[in-house]
Amino acid sequence: MVGLEADERFEFVECDIRDAESVDSLFAAHDIEGVFHLAAESHVDRSIDSPMDFVTTNVQGTVTLLSAAERAWAGDEARRFHHVSTDEVFGTLGDTGAFSETTSYDPRSPYAASKAASDHFVRAWAETYGLNVVLTNCTNNYGPYQFPEKLIPVVIDRLRKRQPIPVYGDGCNVRDWLYVRDHCEAIISVFERGRTGETYCIGGETESSNLTLVEKLCDIFDRLNGNSSSSRQLIEFVADRPGHDFRYAMDITKIRRELGWSPSVDLETGLGSTVQWYMDNEPWINAVLSHEHDTFQQRWYNR
Ligand code: DAU
Repeated sequence: MVGLEADERFEFVECDIRDAESVDSLFAAHDIEGVFHLAAESHVDRSIDSPMDFVTTNVQGTVTLLSAAERAWAGDEARRFHHVSTDEVFGTLGDTGAFSETTSYDPRSPYAASKAASDHFVRAWAETYGLNVVLTNCTNNYGPYQFPEKLIPVVIDRLRKRQPIPVYGDGCNVRDWLYVRDHCEAIISVFERGRTGETYCIGGETESSNLTLVEKLCDIFDRLNGNSSSSRQLIEFVADRPGHDFRYAMDITKIRRELGWSPSVDLETGLGSTVQWYMDNEPWINAVLSHEHDTFQQRWYNR
């Protein structure tokens, strides 16, 4: 595992969530009180190139984990399974409105469809086997340690290498960005205090078009590096993503009202510290891009 400091409170086990035997043996070896299930294939573009990986990891892997938890916990309702999911299960928005816990599912990419399916399996395990579950659906995350396939680390990586920055289509698609630590705190609130069987929507309330976001990153990078010429010149409009969802936004009334959570990091501050983190951690980026186990991700990145 690249870049995570050793901490004696954690034990890292490298295990394929589709491998029922390995997952069962983990439940047998430890007295597991709760599962935070974040393990997933998560990149939309890669799901377009290779959809079956998303079916096996996100759907089969989730069912494997649910089955193992149900067997090991044998009806003990004090133990909880938390499924971390995405706003993409709800489809796409026009210029106005926001997704909420009552929005109908309408996934449009293979990735979104696989996460929608896994959400449904989690709810099925609650209804059929009485598993204590909670679900969260979140908007775009950013911050340290994000693999350079998502927009923000791609942009920062291209900035440091002075290479063209790919903006899909006209750059007008809108995303809502949430700083990763805020997401972690939201997940902990839901796990500890969320109502059993409920879904909570999480978002950063920081909507931005992709082009505006990329321009902001260029300006922050220039400021931090004392550049006199604008990095915006590196922006290159490239072919659009097939089926590109236009806009995501989240109504976070429920989690704010019931659990008192709301995002604490504003976009400007979060982007500034993220750019700084990547500038300070070049060895980490180089290591993940040359990590021998990540050949599929690297192939995609170097496409
Ligand atoms: O909304 C939550 C989702 O956010 C998560 O569930 C996904 O796991 C995560 O990958 C993310 O999905 P997006 O497709 O929105 O994220 P991505 O960083 O790939 O792209 C953000 C926007 O930027 C999207 O409109 C596509 C665009 N884009 C992306 C890349 C990688 C570009 O214009 N150029 C790029 O090179």
